[in-house]
Amino acid sequence: MEKSFYIEVYGCQMNVYDSRRIAELLLANGFVQSPDPHDAEILIFYTCNVREKAAQRLFSNIGFLRSNKTEVIAVGGCVSQAEGTNIFRNKHINISFGAQTYHRLPEHINSILSGKKAQILDLAFDEGTKFRHLAPSTAKASHSEFVTIQEGCDNFCAYCVVPYTRGREYSRPAKDVIAEAREFIARGAKEITLIGQNVNSYHGEAPYITVGQPKETWRLERLIREIALLDGLKRLRYTTSHPKDFTAELMRVHAETPVLTPFAHIPVQSGNDRILKLMNRGHTARAYLDKLAMFRDICPSIQFSSDFIVGFPTETDTEFEDTVNLAEAARYTISYSFKYSRRKNTPADKMDGQIPERIKEERLALLQETLLKSQVEHNRALVGTTQEVLFDRVGRKENQYIGKNVYLQSVIVESSENLIGEFRNVLVEQSGENSVSGRVL
Ligand code: 5AD
Ligand code: SF4
Repeated sequence: MEKSFYIEVYGCQMNVYDSRRIAELLLANGFVQSPDPHDAEILIFYTCNVREKAAQRLFSNIGFLRSNKTEVIAVGGCVSQAEGTNIFRNKHINISFGAQTYHRLPEHINSILSGKKAQILDLAFDEGTKFRHLAPSTAKASHSEFVTIQEGCDNFCAYCVVPYTRGREYSRPAKDVIAEAREFIARGAKEITLIGQNVNSYHGEAPYITVGQPKETWRLERLIREIALLDGLKRLRYTTSHPKDFTAELMRVHAETPVLTPFAHIPVQSGNDRILKLMNRGHTARAYLDKLAMFRDICPSIQFSSDFIVGFPTETDTEFEDTVNLAEAARYTISYSFKYSRRKNTPADKMDGQIPERIKEERLALLQETLLKSQVEHNRALVGTTQEVLFDRVGRKENQYIGKNVYLQSVIVESSENLIGEFRNVLVEQSGENSVSGRVL
């Protein structure tokens, strides 16, 4: 009898990518996927610990999802990496694997099922190895697929666990990235998002060698120009990036590449130079804003989104105001803002001057008010324009479909035709805080 597995995934797009590859590996190894955790012998939790109390949440979800059918519980990803052997304080967990070792998961599951082993910990950092073990899939692709081009981070921002959980920066060879994108398109994908912790520091092996020359590497700019040429690709995005790695050439690529969306996620985190320095971000507020201005010069249709952290250790009220001022000046289309959250083993966790929760909450509310204002303005400016929308979900009302325009804004329409996975031009008629609506032309 084939054993069935269920995967629960938390966190970022990298995790979504990994969890899909894990499913393909298990399918290729004779397991079947179950949409219902209570019906599966194998439960897999692929985790994130960037912000909230991740281990606690994981343990309570294990409690909810286990049943008397459960034979194996495997936990993977960033919580595994951060917890080490501590993960086994939850007695139900049999396997803990890292973000770089999931290619060995089928083998580990078989060892547990056959009774050869009771607990397995596999957290090695074999950068890049897993990519060589991915299982080919013939299933229809989603209309929008992620392709990992790069993993890990060498920036060591003072608040961030990623360098410790995902490891050092690794760039996949350009040939493999292009092959994977081409294959997704052949299986039906129309939109590709190139993902990584720090995609604009990509430096992957070039797909050719020049005899007598040292091995060449490609930067993100070159990779995008190449992938944009793939037949059948309608939309290309990339995320997430670091301000310091935005080059004039990348801005030109935006201006010159029609399938690349005129949209860039450029996280700033804070608008105050002292805090930026403490965060180890490697740029000032002025340098950041100058980069946005240069980007707008080179590619006038460009729009931006950002991430913010409020209440970093020692942040004063006036320093926080600098962040609000930067948010206003930058005119973001969308933003994501978070209260600083202490992460074990990071430099910021050891800093004096941790900010009380209540102040962090007040600051977050204030910043979000400002960010929302600029989001509402952007949405208002869309009224009367025609937006190309890729529809990806149904709305709450009957015949309602929701999709994204090039700026990742939600666009709502009514249609008697099923629009999921389809591109349509939409005339925007109304705008709200988090979406706009209109009619299909
Ligand atoms: N506390 C709060 N937010 C964080 N982020 C990363 N680490 C932390 C932390 N310790 C946020 C940053 C980053 C986004 C992915 O998550 O804004 O850009
Ligand atoms: Fe974390 Fe900074 Fe690297 Fe982003 S750039 S993953 S915030 S260390």
